[in-house]
Amino acid sequence: MPLPQSFLDELIYRCDIVEVISKYVSLKKSGSRYVGLCPFHSEKTPSFSVSPDKQLYHCFGCGEGGNVITFIMKEENLPFIDAVRLLADMYGMAVPEDSGDTDAERQRRERIFELNKQAARYFHSRLLSKEGERALRYLLNRGLTKKTITSFGLGYAMPEWDGLIRAMKEKGFSDNELESAWLARRGRSGGLYDAFRDRVMFPIIDIRGNVIAFGGRIIEGDGPKYLNSGDTPVFSKSRNLFALNFAKKSKAGRLILAEGYMDVIALHQAGFDCAVASLGTALTSEQARLMSHYAAQAVICYDSDGAGQKAAQKAIDLLKPAGLEVKVLHIPGAKDPDEYIKKNGAEAFALLLDRPQSDSEYMLAVIKSKYDLSADSQKVLYLKEAADYISTIGSPVEREILIGSVSQQAEISSQVMTAEVKRAFTIKARRQKKKEESEALQPLRNVQPKENGLRYKNPRSALCEEKLLILVLQDWELMQKAVSAIDCEEFSSPFLAEIFKKACLMSKNEWNAMPAALLSQLTDAESRHLTRLFSQEIPSKDPEKEIEDYIRIIKEEYAKNNSEGDQRLMDALSRRRERKG
Ligand code: UTP
Ligand code: MN
Repeated sequence: MPLPQSFLDELIYRCDIVEVISKYVSLKKSGSRYVGLCPFHSEKTPSFSVSPDKQLYHCFGCGEGGNVITFIMKEENLPFIDAVRLLADMYGMAVPEDSGDTDAERQRRERIFELNKQAARYFHSRLLSKEGERALRYLLNRGLTKKTITSFGLGYAMPEWDGLIRAMKEKGFSDNELESAWLARRGRSGGLYDAFRDRVMFPIIDIRGNVIAFGGRIIEGDGPKYLNSGDTPVFSKSRNLFALNFAKKSKAGRLILAEGYMDVIALHQAGFDCAVASLGTALTSEQARLMSHYAAQAVICYDSDGAGQKAAQKAIDLLKPAGLEVKVLHIPGAKDPDEYIKKNGAEAFALLLDRPQSDSEYMLAVIKSKYDLSADSQKVLYLKEAADYISTIGSPVEREILIGSVSQQAEISSQVMTAEVKRAFTIKARRQKKKEESEALQPLRNVQPKENGLRYKNPRSALCEEKLLILVLQDWELMQKAVSAIDCEEFSSPFLAEIFKKACLMSKNEWNAMPAALLSQLTDAESRHLTRLFSQEIPSKDPEKEIEDYIRIIKEEYAKNNSEGDQRLMDALSRRRERKG
């Protein structure tokens, strides 16, 4: 049994969506709405809007939209029921006993957590056993202490094909559970084998202390250097960070973002308890946001090779929009922090950390490195590109400082550089304005919805159906009028008809949380579309009159299409008769 609708309605009614979202996004009031930078995609100008009167949010940039529950689901990466629990906690409501269905899901997740924990223990005990000698020697040779090995719970997966499978089956876990946890894989013949073999194992632990996945490093020989668990019911590699379980407790006020497992562990061992890394992929925007919940500053500390520097630039573009102050650390004379600390010691690294370049200094250094400043023509190109970059910086003080340092390097006056930055800014502003103007015309030009696979057969009618929905969903009395005047059969769009139908059902009861409450009855596509419509709404002067017009047009179109259909049928029949006759 799902949660009772009355409970969900009350929850949505009691939650203040602006208050909840403000915990994650910095919002500014703008008219009757609040706007801010969208947490679901990276952007520099705010297109994320929250409407307190409708209790909805919507992003014009990426199309995400929903109510307070969907927001928490997406932002916290929680299943529906857990998002509801979190909000209920926040607003002091008790969640009624929940459904069998989600209970089963919850139980399955709990089993996988337990299995992962047992597997981590098994791997760890193998590392310390006779069979694990080679692996242990490898880790010690790389400079890890026994203490570090224990605190990170490192382990060893043996070379055999079913060592872990057998051990876990003895503890009562099933084939199916092993496979779902990505600890065992199925071969072509259908047999199960250990996913990790002859590898040093790094358990990945979430902020609540659950083992959620593993990374495994090869000791020597062929095959990929690192193998990482795929996504499972308890793990998404794009939404977790290695060692965040430790780093979240750090008092450093910043997070060091390193490239991989070994760097992170070496940093922790040297006393830098705020190091984290992404999990076998480039940093994602979700991980950037996750980081922003734990610190104000991120220090990117990637390998000094080309690939590392490229990745650093990408990371800057994700971390900044997440609201983090970003610094990039240059590691002189070593390929990565692990090597640097081994060579120069932790104190030297601490000194480096305390004077990392800001990301803008870093970006300018990258731009500079592209040009040969001894040639005038190259110098001009450098100054243009630098001006272009500086013109995107929001803070006048920071701009001033950067202009100063660039003009000094290039040996030109700072007035000339200031003028160049202004010029770059004007060009950009003009371009932006053009873009905004053409976007403002979009809704008129493009009637078709943006959602995938959704096309209106009859745009004239569908437009009226959309507007009708928007009006009636905000007013119970208007809804009653509409229900008695029009049937959802008469809608041209089955998609909109479905939303109307669900709203009709809800309108039989109380509906103090409309329209936000309706969203919990809709599919993802339906609620995205609806929140988009709400966010584009132009307030109506005379809703009753408008509704009459919309209903009239919808009915006209319905009659037209159906009589056309009738006509076609009649024609077909008469043709047949002719042939027969
Ligand atoms: P690196 O090759 O820099 O590894 O890859 P590392 O962490 O410095 O490890 P050592 O020092 O050689 O042992 C950085 C990260 O990229 C991912 C891993 O997460 C690794 O920690 N990676 C790398 C993979 O997922 N698979 C690979 O084959 C290689
Ligand atoms: Mn490395």
